[in-house]
Order: sequence, then C-alpha cells, then structure tokens
Amino acid sequence: MAEHRNFQEPVGGSPTACSADMTEPDKYKQLNDQLWSELEQAVTDRQHGWRTPVLATVDADGLPDARTVVLRAADRARQTLKVFTDQRSPKIVQLQANPQAQLVFWCPSRQWQLRAKVAVTIDINSDQTAAIWTRIRQMAAAGDYLTAEAPGSLLSDQAPLSVDQHALCVMEFKTVSLDWLMLGRQGHRRARLEHDTLTWLTP
Ligand SMILES: Cc1cc2nc3c(=O)[nH]c(=O)nc-3n(C[C@H](O)[C@H](O)[C@H](O)COP(=O)(O)O)c2cc1C
Repeated sequence: MAEHRNFQEPVGGSPTACSADMTEPDKYKQLNDQLWSELEQAVTDRQHGWRTPVLATVDADGLPDARTVVLRAADRARQTLKVFTDQRSPKIVQLQANPQAQLVFWCPSRQWQLRAKVAVTIDINSDQTAAIWTRIRQMAAAGDYLTAEAPGSLLSDQAPLSVDQHALCVMEFKTVSLDWLMLGRQGHRRARLEHDTLTWLTP
C-alpha cells in the first residue's frame, strides 16, 4: 500500500511514517494507537478539538438527535469513552431504548475527523458516580446536575435540588468501529478500524 505510506502526517501528532514493510496488523496498531493517544489528550487538554464531540442518538420516532458533549475519559485498553450527563435528559431515555450511538469528533488544527460507532452503557447511582460527584460537587458545573426540572423542560422558578439529590450520571461508550478522515493539501486519507483490521476507504 505504498500510496498510504505517510498517513501520519506531521499535523499535531508525531510524524512517524508508515514504512512499506509494515504488516497490515502493524498499520492497524499504529493508527489505532495514535487515535487513542489523541482521545486521551483531548480529555485533559481543553484546547484539543476532540474534547467536544457531537453525540448522535436515535429518538423514539426513529429520528436523529445530536448534541455537543465534553469527553471526560478515554481508555485505550478497554476501547471506551466516557461523558457525563443529567440522568433525566432526553438522550438517556433514547439510549435506554436504543443503546447505540455515534460520536463525531473534529479537530481543526489537525484537520482530523473521527466518527466512532459506539455501544452505550449508562451508569446511574453507582460508586463511580458518587466518586465523580464528590470531586465536582463544589464546582460551578455541579449546578448543571441540580436543576429542579429535567434538561429540556420548560424553565421553572423552583428551587434547585439539594446537593445530595444530584442527577449526574455517566455514559460509557464502547467503540465498535472508528472511521478516521484526515484532510490534507496533498489529498485526503480515510480509514475504517474495525475488528482489529484497518481498511482504507475513498475519502
Ligand atoms: C461545548 C458544549 C459542551 C457540552 N457538554 C455536555 C456534556 O458533557 N454533557 C451533557 O449532557 N450536555 C452537554 N452539553 C449540552 C448538550 O449539548 C445538550 O444541550 C444537553 O445535554 C441536552 O441534550 P438532550 O436534550 O439531547 O439530552 C454541552 C453543550 C456544549 C455547547
């Protein structure tokens, strides 16, 4: 695949080239590692474009519903991503009915798009949510999980929930496949990573 030798262009990430004698599993591993490095970086780097992906779900009428979220965790070994939300939000009802979704990431500085097909698990009232709440309860953002009404409800003047009644929950996304697109002046590159296999696609 000589035409794909330089898929790791020096745009933000390490400019390691993909040598001609690499095996297909090696190429998969190299790109997969680089994508997960970027995802891990996006969790801690507020400036990283991949920090705020769009989460797309399917509503009760089978229609698409999409919104911006903040990436809170990326676990390369388990191939999972985490996002916090309010357990009363419409997306939770949608995901409980259909726990499949897509996360779409765009990084302008790298010119990289990543579309992750994911299977979703929702964690409510667990040790994990309690530990996260202990960490964020003093922050201004804690107010997001203490509103009197569910997100999307008509605005009300009811008092907020008490701090121990918070509605924080964690959405965990297990990646099923990754579709990576890199825009480049010399041509674009697109690849699908699925079942430990890298497949080059027409951009
Ligand atoms: C930059 C940005 C980051 C956001 N991060 C989150 C988030 O991490 N979790 C979340 O539930 N909503 C987040 N929101 C709000 C959602 O986009 C959305 O408005 C809200 O979750 C209600 O969505 P729903 O009615 O589809 O459930 C964010 C919005 C923006 C603009």
